[in-house]
Amino acid sequence: MNDKGEKPPPQEQKKPQEDHPPPKTLSSPRNSEKEQHNAPEAQKDQGFFLLDEATSQVADIATEIETQKKVAADKNFPLEERLEAYEDIFDSEIGDTTLSRARNIEREVGFRQIYLKFEGGNPTGTQKDRIAFAQVLDALRRGFDAITMATCGNYGVAMALAASLAGLRCIVYIPETYHTKRAKEILDTGAEIIRVPGDYEKTVILSRQLAESEEIYDANPGGANTALQLQAYGEIAYEIYDELRDAPAFVAVPVSNGTTLAGIYKGFLSLYRRGKTSRIPRMIAGSSFGKNPIIHAYLKNSPRCDDLQPESIRETTVNEPLINWQSIDGDYALQALRLTRGWAAYASDKNMLFFSRLIREREGLNVLPASTAGLIALINGHQRDTFPSDRYVVILTGRR
Ligand SMILES: Cc1ncc(COP(=O)(O)O)c(C=O)c1O
Repeated sequence: MNDKGEKPPPQEQKKPQEDHPPPKTLSSPRNSEKEQHNAPEAQKDQGFFLLDEATSQVADIATEIETQKKVAADKNFPLEERLEAYEDIFDSEIGDTTLSRARNIEREVGFRQIYLKFEGGNPTGTQKDRIAFAQVLDALRRGFDAITMATCGNYGVAMALAASLAGLRCIVYIPETYHTKRAKEILDTGAEIIRVPGDYEKTVILSRQLAESEEIYDANPGGANTALQLQAYGEIAYEIYDELRDAPAFVAVPVSNGTTLAGIYKGFLSLYRRGKTSRIPRMIAGSSFGKNPIIHAYLKNSPRCDDLQPESIRETTVNEPLINWQSIDGDYALQALRLTRGWAAYASDKNMLFFSRLIREREGLNVLPASTAGLIALINGHQRDTFPSDRYVVILTGRR
């Protein structure tokens, strides 16, 4: 369906360019040094004074969460109390990430109303915290005491933190050859890492086998939890709607398995069906050059998201979060691209590095290079198809 609820007529697919050359101008950052606000001495140790001598409650809120953390992870407390405490942590720590207009990027790329949804505001710096906390809550509720999944790193650190706060054992599978710098963070939470010779897809199979044989909660993509994961990512759509009061024209997302994009689409579909928004955004997918089945299927105009040749996939320090020969939720993502008359394009490592630097210098956000793949696809689409003047949202994650 399109945003008016009609099936769009089949269109001749314009072949997107493979990548977008970086803009030539990259001068020194503006406003990089902000004037320091010098608070009066008396205020420094006592929090901020508000009007009428009221003070902020920051310390109280933090203390409250500390208590909830102890309760949620402690098996001596009744399950109901642990669940309640965990829900409180989830509520206050996950999501509600910032959506900010990127005026300087707009000037750089030559079109207006680009908003950055910065998932770096989540505790471990990516949107993966959303699905990690949702599944740990589910695992806790259903009486599991361990959880497992495969990861390139970001999802693993999100799950390790989420599990540690609930007192669950966490077993993280990572391909042996992956460079991820996040292994230490995973271990620091008390989670276990199993390095697997082979690719990401193989680690998913092994993690799933462990889950089946030892009755451990399976938090891998593509299993019985898909609906829960899509729902958790759907929150991103609700948050964007909360800020913009309607759906933007486009939402650009970096894709690997396609779960994030499919979940955001589903969130917007729900908002539209409930009469909250006047339209459903056109979805845009970006991923690593030649190494993602969703982009491949879109460019080939194929109806399904078929597997690529495993030998064609080579990870680098930049593309690691995005590559796979099998996109586990790829068909959902491809369908979202087709139904919304979306767009997809590849991004090279060079361009992902370039745009992450640009965003840091122009907008002050330290983003993971791979997460700029959606932005690069958006720019590519705009160059090829001249998208209408409207609001664009780009999903980005933090760099750790
Ligand atoms: C930072 C980052 N962005 C995007 C993605 C892609 O997400 P999905 O697998 O939901 O398509 C990943 C996947 O690991 C990631 O780590």
